Amino acid sequence: MRHIIYIFNAIFAVVLALQLVGCDDGHVDDPVYVNTEDSYNVQITGTFQSLNTWTGSYIVVAACFNEESEYSLIQKVLPAASTDSTTEVLTLSGVPTNSKTVEIALVNTLRKRIATLYSYEIPENQRYSDTIKIDVETLNVGMFGTINQLIFQGTGTNCSRCHASARAAADLDLSADNAYHNLVGKKATKDSTKTRVVPGDADSSFLYKVITEGDENVGYSHPGLFADEKYAPFLDIIKAWINGGAKE
Ligand code: HEC
Repeated sequence: MRHIIYIFNAIFAVVLALQLVGCDDGHVDDPVYVNTEDSYNVQITGTFQSLNTWTGSYIVVAACFNEESEYSLIQKVLPAASTDSTTEVLTLSGVPTNSKTVEIALVNTLRKRIATLYSYEIPENQRYSDTIKIDVETLNVGMFGTINQLIFQGTGTNCSRCHASARAAADLDLSADNAYHNLVGKKATKDSTKTRVVPGDADSSFLYKVITEGDENVGYSHPGLFADEKYAPFLDIIKAWINGGAKE
């Protein structure tokens, strides 16, 4: 009998507690803002350097991506620049709400991302605001700058691991500040009849030979550095860069 009383008391206590919790304690939660729109706008401001050095079929765009695809959800091509540096305000309107990043990216003609030059992760709570404003400040989006950053210094191909500073393999120092001047117009160490980069002529450039087919004096392992499909397009890009005059 006593047990039953205990149980009743316990049930009573729980019911009371639930009622108290359910009571209006005067606190009003902030209303949850649910957006019914399925898109919004992104405005990107920036000073873009060396955009005018691009040749070939790759394009620099302002674009949105999500993690499901390498193809941009929406993009705007950075307008062709006639000067070394151009300041732009670009608006992407109708950005789908499933976008996760706003990027300055290099894409191919199918809108597939080849490289990210700048990335802004859209915070969860900003996804539904009317216009996201991003200032990318000053960004080098040049053709050589992109190759240098992603290939010569990049962690995937890692040229500068073996080709850096004093102990550089084949006396070729490809560290960030030296790569350009040690390549363009410079005689090759391993084949003195060749020049590393001959502006306007990729097929005669030792660099291009070494990375595409290898060379008996250097070995045949370099093409393997571009085997990953992430880097493979750069063989094309390096070729176009050399053939376009190897501009800095
Ligand atoms: C694992 C080390 C290693 C990595 C990584 C590497 N290289 Fe090399 N590279 C060498 C070696 C070693 C030689 C010279 C071979 C010899 O001494 O016989 C060489 C030679 C060269 C040469 C010939 C230079 C000349 O003047 O003779 C070029 C060009 C070159 N590498 C470019 C690159 C590029 C571009 C990358 C990145 C995509 C790269 N290498 C990554 C080790 C490396």
